[in-house]
Amino acid sequence: MVMKTQTVSSLKNTQVVAFESREQEQIKKRLLSLGAFPVIAPAMQEIPLEKSPERDSFIEKFFAGQIDLLILNTGTGTRLLLDALLTNSDKKEVMHVFEKAMVIARGPKPANVLRAFGLACFSEVSEPSTWKQIIETLDVDAKGIDLAGRKVAIQEAGQPSLELLEALRKRGAHVMRIPLYRLALPDDAGPLCHAMKLILNQEVSVVFFTNAYQIKNLFQLAEEQGLQQSLKIALSQTLVASIGPRVSASLRESGLPADYESSRPTIDCLVDEVAQWFTKLQEEKSRSSFITRAFEKKEVSLEDKKKRHESVFLKACRREPVPYTPVWLMRQAGRYMESYRRIRSKVPFLELCKTPELAAEVTVSAAEALNTDAAILFSDLLLIVEPMGLALEYTAQDGPMISGCLPTKESISRLNVSDPADSLSFVYEAVRLMRASLKPEIPLIGFSGAPFTMASYILEGGASRLFLQTKTLMYRQPETWHLLMDKIVTVLVPYLKHQIQAGADAVQIFDSWVGCLSPEDFRNFVLPHSRRLIQEVGNEVPVIHFGTGTAPFLRDFREAGGDVIGIDYRISLDQAWNLVGHDVAVQGNLDPTVLCADQNYMFQRAKEVLDLAGSRPGHIFNLGHGLLPQTPEKNVIALVDYIHQVSFRSSSKS
Ligand code: CP3
Repeated sequence: MVMKTQTVSSLKNTQVVAFESREQEQIKKRLLSLGAFPVIAPAMQEIPLEKSPERDSFIEKFFAGQIDLLILNTGTGTRLLLDALLTNSDKKEVMHVFEKAMVIARGPKPANVLRAFGLACFSEVSEPSTWKQIIETLDVDAKGIDLAGRKVAIQEAGQPSLELLEALRKRGAHVMRIPLYRLALPDDAGPLCHAMKLILNQEVSVVFFTNAYQIKNLFQLAEEQGLQQSLKIALSQTLVASIGPRVSASLRESGLPADYESSRPTIDCLVDEVAQWFTKLQEEKSRSSFITRAFEKKEVSLEDKKKRHESVFLKACRREPVPYTPVWLMRQAGRYMESYRRIRSKVPFLELCKTPELAAEVTVSAAEALNTDAAILFSDLLLIVEPMGLALEYTAQDGPMISGCLPTKESISRLNVSDPADSLSFVYEAVRLMRASLKPEIPLIGFSGAPFTMASYILEGGASRLFLQTKTLMYRQPETWHLLMDKIVTVLVPYLKHQIQAGADAVQIFDSWVGCLSPEDFRNFVLPHSRRLIQEVGNEVPVIHFGTGTAPFLRDFREAGGDVIGIDYRISLDQAWNLVGHDVAVQGNLDPTVLCADQNYMFQRAKEVLDLAGSRPGHIFNLGHGLLPQTPEKNVIALVDYIHQVSFRSSSKS
């Protein structure tokens, strides 16, 4: 992890737990040298399998020269395999057969065992030695060897890596797995029980996980004692350090994202880096631990709901007078934030969206850091296309890419429109977590794309300038176009309703690309569908209907519905409000690029927006489109603060 500012930090006098077994002396020494009080609690032992038919069959095939590639995963496994090979053959024979095969060592541990045996002819996978680097090794060292029909043997360490198996099978390899040992709780679980007690009593500052099995075994022990939930809560308030991506992935699966992942997968590096960043990590942890406290209180209380009903944001949605103008910002949780970029350097965007705890952390910490009057669900517009049967990918260069739908009747007829109740359950779970973790008076906004913007993504496969596919379908096959729009609305209605059910206090519908249409096309091809969506979502919570480039048809845009109309920056706010009518609330509309200017200029432009809104009830301050990744974080904080101060109406009765 690269952090910009280095703070003076150490582990001096802090009690920490390490679960390492084999290298326990090493980690203990390192921690002691840094002044920490280490509690070493071995969490697993490797028990060699007495019988393993797969091992016997491998040995036979290996000596017969029938194994094309051997992947060695662990030091212990490699040692056990060499021992097994030596049972009926001498060292020379074993060396000889190794020299003939292609052998890959996953990292330094199996490589060191091979070297100690006297073998040199193998490839060593580079750090962090995940399945991806194994595949890279195959592609680079083995010059893209064709694996079709080849026999690949994998020495297994506990659970197989499903991704590796899948990648090998995709290349046509016949994979053979060789289990050699199983991982169990240590015979003496005393130290582990003691460590668990210290964690439960919150007497530990950091826990170090150096192997994925440690997590599994620790939780198994907790479960046996009926302490699983308490342990989860206690750990959510303790700094969790991980040695590498595999361990971090296991931690995420257990609902405990690592607070720190070592930049290199070695014990010394892990310990040193945690010591170096300890103070900063602790600060971040105390900021985010309220999220995980939400595990304890997921119920939304009626009293809190009432409090929220009286919030400035929801009042403004209802056009009731407010003491100051509420403000939130589109894309307030995103790449302009250092803390977000840090999370993203470890987790791909889609995975972030699909991990409720992480999504909740992003949403809540953005709202808290900026002091906005509402939070927005961290997710993405496009997730809904997956349950519709399409493939979704985010690439660093080209942004989102969708594939699987052609602009034909056949293709569109095949789109799945079943209720995304289960397929997108992670979104609703994220909403529940966010709702429980946000301050009770801060409303949470759920969202979806509008039918037109969704249709254009589905048809263009990504961002577009001309919307050629979209408009051509519209003009050439209007029936098929309406079928597509209809299908999209059929999925979006339950999607938004589930978000509301899970605790969203308002929803926003983003029609980000609708401005590419003429007013007439909007009326004929879009309006009826947006209207159906908004009507069917109902009026349990306010609906914000946002679009960009809507100035030429704002009246019609409003006709489609919404309690609040989101205005982009290409029209002045007073003019827009006149067009949509004063019987609806408005949201907007500072140009997001203004935040990249200097602060005084930004304040001046923000004041203009407030002045154009007058003090009329029903204005929510926002940008005319999402925050740009280049925006200085301090400007965003300053803007929210400025809006609160300048709009404060001391004479307000509310
Ligand atoms: O803070 C928030 O506003 C909440 C989260 C949010 C995201 N996307 C996160 C995101 C919301 C509300 C969206 C909506 C969204 N997604 C829209 C409508 C809003 C708008 O800008 O008009 C659109 C068009 C998308 C589709 C999308 N998602 C694009 C075009 C991109 C890539 C380009 C870009 O702006 O980053 C994304 C990815 C995306 N969605 C990111 C974020 C924070 C960046 C991903 C990353 O971390 O690399």
